[in-house]
Amino acid sequence: MAIDSRLSERLEKIQPSSTLAITSKAKKLKSEGKDVISLAAGEPDFDTPGFIKDAAIEAIKSGFTKYTPTTGILELKTAICNKLRKDNGLEYSPNQIVVSCGAKHSIFNALFVLLNVGDEVLVPSPYWVSYPEMINLCSGKVRIIPTSRENEFKVTIRDLHKYISRKTKILILNSPSNPAGAVYTLDELGQIAKLCVSKKILIISDEIYEKIIFDNCKHVSIASFGKEVSNNTITVNGVSKTYSMTGWRIGYLAAPQDIVDAVSKMQDHTTSNPASISQKASLAALNAPEDFTQKMCQEFQKRRDYIVGRLKNMKKISFVMPHGAFYIFCDISKLNMGSVNFANRLLEEKLVALIPGDSFGRDDFVRISFATNIEQLKIAMDRMEGWFNMGKF
Ligand SMILES: Cc1ncc(COP(=O)(O)O)c(C=O)c1O
Repeated sequence: MAIDSRLSERLEKIQPSSTLAITSKAKKLKSEGKDVISLAAGEPDFDTPGFIKDAAIEAIKSGFTKYTPTTGILELKTAICNKLRKDNGLEYSPNQIVVSCGAKHSIFNALFVLLNVGDEVLVPSPYWVSYPEMINLCSGKVRIIPTSRENEFKVTIRDLHKYISRKTKILILNSPSNPAGAVYTLDELGQIAKLCVSKKILIISDEIYEKIIFDNCKHVSIASFGKEVSNNTITVNGVSKTYSMTGWRIGYLAAPQDIVDAVSKMQDHTTSNPASISQKASLAALNAPEDFTQKMCQEFQKRRDYIVGRLKNMKKISFVMPHGAFYIFCDISKLNMGSVNFANRLLEEKLVALIPGDSFGRDDFVRISFATNIEQLKIAMDRMEGWFNMGKF
């Protein structure tokens, strides 16, 4: 048999990222000395707090630099259990936790141990860019569920009923969500939980933006609806966004024992433990008072309010108010141009970088990140407003 490509067929299904294309173009322009403002960031722009760095330095100095148990050190898993109990009303024991190299890794591991070829995974759209690709990599079948602007891009049980089939195995939920900043209410999650239990659909609940939440909204963990639901749910979280620790690569999942054991076995033969030093740093983060995160969240809310105020005056676009995370998903459909074209033109003509919505399953939207200081946001909004006022659309 002739071999056309030396890469595996699995990779053929994976889409190149238009997110990457626009960010590398922005970087190139910057390196040429252009005054590019990036509204593309997917991580908080704050430094990791000093006490967390100190814990890592201490770990290095004391020689905590060797393999740890695959699923993470007991102190960290205990701190995670305490957090899940205190913040989320979830009861897990340390042996039901697997610490991995970021929430992304936890989600991938969960999909990998759960999916057989052709199993369907429900993904409400707009979605975080990596979900469909991870499902493809795990030989699952992606079933995108469009959600409506009117319902703030949250999936309803009516939507779910339309897409559930005999092959449906998993629903991925993300609250607060990237890219829309949607926050599901207690009632909405209760209905979804009930449906998933009755249909025996597992839920992967990605709660990575849990602590970045505005307007007195309350984050609810879907696994908190009782034993039947928690038996059906994989809760994913991490330290990346909450403590501005994206580079440290620590995420975790909490799940029923059979799933945890499978993930643990898999991680044993792939990455082994996440970095020992990052584990110690994450332990310090989880055991600390929440001042840093609260201040960061207040700052994000200030920025959100600022951008919202500015966007309201730009009649060519509209948006859905985000109640969490640090993004605003903007409707550009009135402009009759695709999101990649919009992002490219804004970058070339006004040196403002943002992410095309097609990466998230909505080509009629773009994502603005406000993980950038307010001075930069102001300049970016001035440029955007000026661009719209030029009226070249
Ligand atoms: C919705 C969502 N889930 C998970 C992640 C990944 O988090 P981590 O850096 O912990 O892997 C991101 C990062 O952007 C995200 O937006």
